[in-house]
Amino acid sequence: MKKDLVNIKDLSNDEILKLFDIADEMSRAVEKKERLDLCKNNILATLFYEASTRTRLSFESAMFRLGGSVLGFSSTEGSSVSKGETLADTIRTVANYSDVIAIRHPNEGSARVASQYSSVPVINGGDGGHQHPTQTLLDLYTILKEKGSLSSLTILISGDLKFGRTTHSLAISLARFGAKMCFASPPGLEMPEYILRTLREEFNNFPQEGTNIRDFIHQVDAIYVTRVQRERLGEMEYLKYRDAYVLSSEVMKSAKHETIVLHPLPRVNEISRDVDKDPRALYFKQAFNGVPIRMALIATLLGKV
Ligand code: NCD
Repeated sequence: MKKDLVNIKDLSNDEILKLFDIADEMSRAVEKKERLDLCKNNILATLFYEASTRTRLSFESAMFRLGGSVLGFSSTEGSSVSKGETLADTIRTVANYSDVIAIRHPNEGSARVASQYSSVPVINGGDGGHQHPTQTLLDLYTILKEKGSLSSLTILISGDLKFGRTTHSLAISLARFGAKMCFASPPGLEMPEYILRTLREEFNNFPQEGTNIRDFIHQVDAIYVTRVQRERLGEMEYLKYRDAYVLSSEVMKSAKHETIVLHPLPRVNEISRDVDKDPRALYFKQAFNGVPIRMALIATLLGKV
């Protein structure tokens, strides 16, 4: 039976750790700029109904590094979506042209719908404000590589926690791995109640909540910053929140010497540029990890490892 990755809960902790072992091997291939031939007869379709740089390009880079081929669209303009085609019909068609599909779509639940209509594995590259499980894999992988553990850590997740889909899948999986969490968001952009309920009821996890990074920065092992999700807010709302929080080198003075800084990117102004030269700022290394992680995932879903 085909396996999809739509929700981070589709993978057990053991499956995630297995992917990380494979990603370690893939990482060595990427560093040596090697092209493997594990997926040489396979095609990845990337169907991106929403803007993307890292997710789409790292999926494509991953498939090329595995020796496979890629087709797809990076916006709906040139596709039959602009003629009114439904997601179900597009998926049924593209499943005939490819062996695995990575999809990003503005609607919550769209990746699950796609998986129901697809005869090939579907990977959720972000469904509206819901989840972004492959980003979570590379976030967890980065934290684990840098800190050696997840269960002993306290992680601050900050920014737009209402619409930031990366924070939803990250919070669920950090809780499942036993990490402690603090959430800092401007009033109105708090973590949705359904996520908090999952954390409480399924994982007995009770994050501390606040409105300011400064309230927690001194006590955490990692800071995960996210941007205000402009495309999911009205313009007036966006202007209200735009400058509500900034992690600057001044703020970083309150962090522990070994506290790492992560961001799924793109960054707008929520981490000032002067933080980039701080050795604790790992967001570009984190983005690099997207390729080996996605190689490991594609090869696994295609049964090649
Ligand atoms: C994130 C996303 O699309 O949710 N970007 C990414 O995939 N690295 C974060 C964001 O856009 O804010």
